[in-house]
Amino acid sequence: MIIKNLYSKGFRNFKELEFLPSENMNVIYGDNAQGKTNLLEAIWLFCGAKSFRGAKDSELLGFNSNKAVNSCDFIFGETEKNAKIIIEQNRKAELNGKMLSSASKLAGNFYAIVFSPTDLNLVNDGPMVRRRFLDTAIGQIYPLYNEKLRNYVKAVTQRNTVLRDLKFHSDIEFLLDDFEKSLAVLIKEVLKYRYRYVEILKEILPEIYGGLSGKKEILNIEYSSAISKNAEIEEIAEILKKARKEDILTGNTSVGPHRDDLNLILNGSAVKSYGSQGQRRSVCLALKLSEAKVLKRITGEYPIALLDDVMSELDRSRQDFILNHIKDWQVFITCCDPSNIKGLKNGTVFQMKGGNFCNIMVK
Ligand SMILES: Nc1ncnc2c1ncn2[C@@H]1O[C@H](COP(=O)(O)OP(=O)(O)OP(=O)(O)O)[C@@H](O)[C@H]1O
Ligand SMILES: [Mg+2]
Repeated sequence: MIIKNLYSKGFRNFKELEFLPSENMNVIYGDNAQGKTNLLEAIWLFCGAKSFRGAKDSELLGFNSNKAVNSCDFIFGETEKNAKIIIEQNRKAELNGKMLSSASKLAGNFYAIVFSPTDLNLVNDGPMVRRRFLDTAIGQIYPLYNEKLRNYVKAVTQRNTVLRDLKFHSDIEFLLDDFEKSLAVLIKEVLKYRYRYVEILKEILPEIYGGLSGKKEILNIEYSSAISKNAEIEEIAEILKKARKEDILTGNTSVGPHRDDLNLILNGSAVKSYGSQGQRRSVCLALKLSEAKVLKRITGEYPIALLDDVMSELDRSRQDFILNHIKDWQVFITCCDPSNIKGLKNGTVFQMKGGNFCNIMVK
């Protein structure tokens, strides 16, 4: 995927902005609060997703504007398309001049991955963020997965309701037998996708991390679950049944994909417990770049990579890898310190000031 141009008006601090990026590496640098992240956010919205900063649509509208328009020509496969996002009270979108029923319908036309400083929580926080990473990545490739996951979550909520009722009406425990069998079917389906996705990550992630660390460190990933990859439906139902006693006490289902995790192991130790700042950042970045490589493997196209403030805390050799070794796809990197990009061999550097470009340099 390649963005040919982006036009933005009335969005965040952009009065009117025209952006003609290069097809490979684009670095956007400038002081704090100039609009670098705003630019990545504007691009990201073409995926049809919410802002990666968790912003409401009303916050995207420029302070003195009552309408924001972002328009972008991009190439996906052999075809060139135009997407337009219009933000007034809410967000609307057009594709090739046709209004879509909602802005989220842009999904599936435009692919991007984003790394932002909040993504460091992928390593630092609890299992929920890692499950969300997996679910979003899988859902972007297999929309059917989102439906299966929703059905699974609904079924767990129903089991929890029965568990809570059981405290007062133990005579209805028999209800759980059939219920757990159908839940086991859903668990098997969700796990099939998750285990398969992690299998692909296992092939890609160590290589990317090896590149980032100059082959000095080895990163491994494992899907961690109380239910093994090849467990049959009856076995899964049995595991649920065994957990029943404890689950009735807590009123919650204690096993299943909603309790699973991704283990990230660096040179034999858990990154979460032993990783340095730079190592944590590298692991998160490697996960995001791997997500892009999986997309490429499956859709045949690299998504656009949006890397917000990725350079800080990384040593020169890791910065060099990011600047010069992510090849054959369009990358957008923001940074504040121009010394971070001294090593850039090929690419375009855009200096941003007050919501516009004040200098453009081709290397
Ligand atoms: N809705 C809005 N309307 C106008 N200006 C806005 C709006 N939202 C944010 N801004 C302004 O945009 C600027 C922040 O932009 P952005 O987050 O892109 O900065 P940045 O260049 O990435 O900075 P940093 O290096 O600190 O991350 C701030 O000055 C902020 O006041
Ligand atoms: Mg920023």
